[in-house]
Amino acid sequence: MAYTPNPAMNPIRVIKTNEVIALKTQVVVIGGGPSGLLLSQLLHRQGIESVVLERKTRDYVVGRIRAGILETGTVNLMRQAGISERMDRECLVHDGIVISHADEQFSINLKALSGSNVVVYGQTELTRDLYDVREAANGQLLFNVENVQILDADTDHPRVSYEQNGKTSHIDCDFVAGCDGFHGVSRQAIPLNVRREYEKIYPFGWLGVLSETPPVNDELIYASSPRGFALCSMRNENLSRYYIQCSLSDSPGDWSDAAFWQELKRRIPTDAAESLITGPSIEKSIAPLRSFITEPMRWGRLFLCGDAAHIVPPTGAKGLNTAAGDIHYLYNGLAQFYTTGDTDGIDHYSEKALSRAWKAVRFSWSLTSLLHRFPDQSEFDLKMQIAEIAFLKSSRHAQSMLAENYVGLPY
Ligand code: APR
Ligand code: PHB
Repeated sequence: MAYTPNPAMNPIRVIKTNEVIALKTQVVVIGGGPSGLLLSQLLHRQGIESVVLERKTRDYVVGRIRAGILETGTVNLMRQAGISERMDRECLVHDGIVISHADEQFSINLKALSGSNVVVYGQTELTRDLYDVREAANGQLLFNVENVQILDADTDHPRVSYEQNGKTSHIDCDFVAGCDGFHGVSRQAIPLNVRREYEKIYPFGWLGVLSETPPVNDELIYASSPRGFALCSMRNENLSRYYIQCSLSDSPGDWSDAAFWQELKRRIPTDAAESLITGPSIEKSIAPLRSFITEPMRWGRLFLCGDAAHIVPPTGAKGLNTAAGDIHYLYNGLAQFYTTGDTDGIDHYSEKALSRAWKAVRFSWSLTSLLHRFPDQSEFDLKMQIAEIAFLKSSRHAQSMLAENYVGLPY
């Protein structure tokens, strides 16, 4: 790409007419979720201006209950972005996880096998921290935007238009970061004859419950059982997060708290079931499971990040962490461009991000296939699952492979 940075361009300039507001900035970030906010904050720390366009409100975005496991790479990005103080104070460091099948259980020592670990810190908290730091820096965060359109992404002068409070605005920029999730507009801006999409829909969902109760175990329990998968997780010492595999035809209203706790107890090891402290659900929701990835993750001056480019089943806790890898690559590519004019980083963004994302898609698919009951699986399929779990229990090498993927592959 033969172009030079426009350092002289006023990062933000507003030209108002009676109908249209014209803005200029360096990077337009579409989507104010974890990906968009983390990128905006990292760019800000490098003196690179951005405008974040979010279709919902801050409270709506922060209120979404999502997963809570951070890889070391994600933690390091938070530190680099200057938003790790509360996380360092409140997070739980986990050196291992438990895998169980019926009443058999074993721990996988992530730290001993991979030299690394994971951190338990809710995505809700991470997103709240990101908003706090962006607003403290007077970041350009626009909420309730509608009809976002990406224009001329395949030229040297991309533009983004949007509507807010009945006014239409256009933003001239150098680059567009599509951080608007699976249902956003960014991926659709890449022409169908350029885009290749890969998808697997799983024949079940996860019913999740948040309860103000102490976690049943110090480490997460990933439970495979004849009745289906279950996961015992947490947010802190008095906030637990539990999931059970459920039918796609279920809705949260079909499950009373009592029915949920009874089913969870039937899927986790007996000692955990007997010590489980139940309580009223403060949140109850069902998420469908899919694996999805789109190639390429770049088109001209548009870069896709996070859920806009890939979706994984939550089994491997890779959603946010794979998004963090994308943000690492894109931030470093943009920082390199604006400081040196070198385009090597952004020119190799899609290749690097996809390489890591495909490995996360594989790991999440593999763990989902191992631990869940599939409606159409044969007795042979079931025996294969049981044999693989038995091998995982017995093999340090197999456990090392799981640990290496779970703590996060290097950027
Ligand atoms: N215009 C503006 N904003 C949009 C648009 C649009 N057309 N479409 C979607 N958005 C916003 C959504 O409201 C949301 O706040 O983009 C944001 C996308 O955020 P996420 O879906 O959280 O995706 P991402 O930031 O990549 O974070 C990935 O979050 O959803 C979890 O499981 C996911 O853990 C993963 C992580
Ligand atoms: C969670 O705590 O929400 C969680 C933890 C691990 C997973 C998925 C979800 O694999």
